Amino acid sequence: MSSQPATSEGAPPPGCPAHAGYGGRGLPSLYGAGYAADPTATFAQLRAQGPVSQVEIAPGVSAWLVTSYDTALEVLRSPERFAKDPRRWRALADGTVPPDSPVIPMMMYRPNALWADGAEHVRLRGAITDSLSRVDPNALRGYVEQSADRLIDRFGPRGHADLLGEYGAVLPLLVFEQMFGCPSDLGAKLVEGMSGIFDSEGDAERANALLVEALSGLVALKRQQPAADVTSWMMAHPAQLNDEEMIHQLILLMGAGTEPQQNLICNGLRLLLSDDRFGGHLAGGSMPVEDALDEVLWMDPPMANYCIHYALYDLELGGVPVPAGEPILVSLAAANTDPNLVTDRRGGNRAHLAWSAGAHTCPAKDPARLIASVAIEKLLDRLPDVELDVRVEELAWRPGPFHRALAALPVCFPPIAPQAITDEIPGDSGWNVRPAPSSSMPPVTTSTGRQHESGSKGQRRWWNFLARWWRGQ
Ligand code: HEM
Repeated sequence: MSSQPATSEGAPPPGCPAHAGYGGRGLPSLYGAGYAADPTATFAQLRAQGPVSQVEIAPGVSAWLVTSYDTALEVLRSPERFAKDPRRWRALADGTVPPDSPVIPMMMYRPNALWADGAEHVRLRGAITDSLSRVDPNALRGYVEQSADRLIDRFGPRGHADLLGEYGAVLPLLVFEQMFGCPSDLGAKLVEGMSGIFDSEGDAERANALLVEALSGLVALKRQQPAADVTSWMMAHPAQLNDEEMIHQLILLMGAGTEPQQNLICNGLRLLLSDDRFGGHLAGGSMPVEDALDEVLWMDPPMANYCIHYALYDLELGGVPVPAGEPILVSLAAANTDPNLVTDRRGGNRAHLAWSAGAHTCPAKDPARLIASVAIEKLLDRLPDVELDVRVEELAWRPGPFHRALAALPVCFPPIAPQAITDEIPGDSGWNVRPAPSSSMPPVTTSTGRQHESGSKGQRRWWNFLARWWRGQ
């Protein structure tokens, strides 16, 4: 094993108070290197104050953080008291929060299911859940296996790889390309655009342009030639999404799926390669992988602190007064490890909140879990002697308040020859094996005429935000 250090992009500069665990406002910080290295210490400190505390999530940006399991459920399951729409965020509206704050991409309003409430949420989410439910798990498994083989073939002969950059980050994109019915020319643009966005030294403008082109092209294509894929199913849904709504939901689906998906794969691999409780049985089938995924979803959930809500009126939460218009983050990571939570985590207990709960719970948990477990099984199957290329303590976590994400996952293994697999991935007919579900949505007669930000300036800024959102900053 070499002792090559893992990188840590985006850490605050030396001297920044976030290093010491506090932001400039004197509140515990969720964006510094200290928090990234040891979130549990921050959670313990916050719990000592009560189930809800004020934290700083970026320089000059404060929010409430819920650390108890019961209070988390209270927020997630009480739409009559808490709403998602970020246009309620007063400090952003009045300019107190700088519009270029690094947390804005993950918090700003867009006309998608994540930020919608009430009937509009039901309408947008219905199109998503009904379409995702038509994805056949066997076809999905096949696509993950083929995508995994393609990637492993690239680095396998080398004997070493960064499983984050070369595997976990790329594989979900290849799979989504198939799920969403991207023909190879658009799919190539999509993958190049998305990968460019993740590459902090790449040309983000060009990456954005490629993505816009790919998604607009995809929507136009599927309007003309619908096929058996998630994009076409969403278009055909009684919710009658217009083109702009389609693009926004596609971005949500791909953005929501990519970063957490890569983190579930890589956090799971890290555990399997470093923890004797799992590593001893690597050759023994799928149980250790499923156990490791459960452990990650409990202990290191890919979305650590998110599920942002706003109190509809000034109210009390967990014993503290929370004014309307201030963001409330649910710490899924802290809630899962709440010392007051009496639960036996062994034996596949999945009462964790890694997928959130309530109306906005992740609509893709089954495919997301399948993608992660097949991706991990395939890698361990092809590279049975893979091991970490650094000590586990040397692996750096990427700073940031929302994700639990490794900065890199360097591994080494005896080189293998590429498999003689075809580079072609089957066409989209593989998805067409499930009947359309009876829709959860009443037919909607008008879906056009909604007021959205328009114009090239607004669009450009929006896409720049998107770049940082996808990077999880
Ligand atoms: C391991 C992977 C994943 C994890 C841990 C995860 C976790 C979550 C969480 C915690 C939420 C709630 C966010 C909030 O309320 O603010 C969420 C929502 C969502 N997720 Fe996932 N997700 C994963 C994969 C995916 C994938 C693969 C897709 C799409 C194919 C997806 C699509 C969505 C969408 C559309 C929402 C918004 C739902 C709504 O607001 O009604 N997720 N996810």
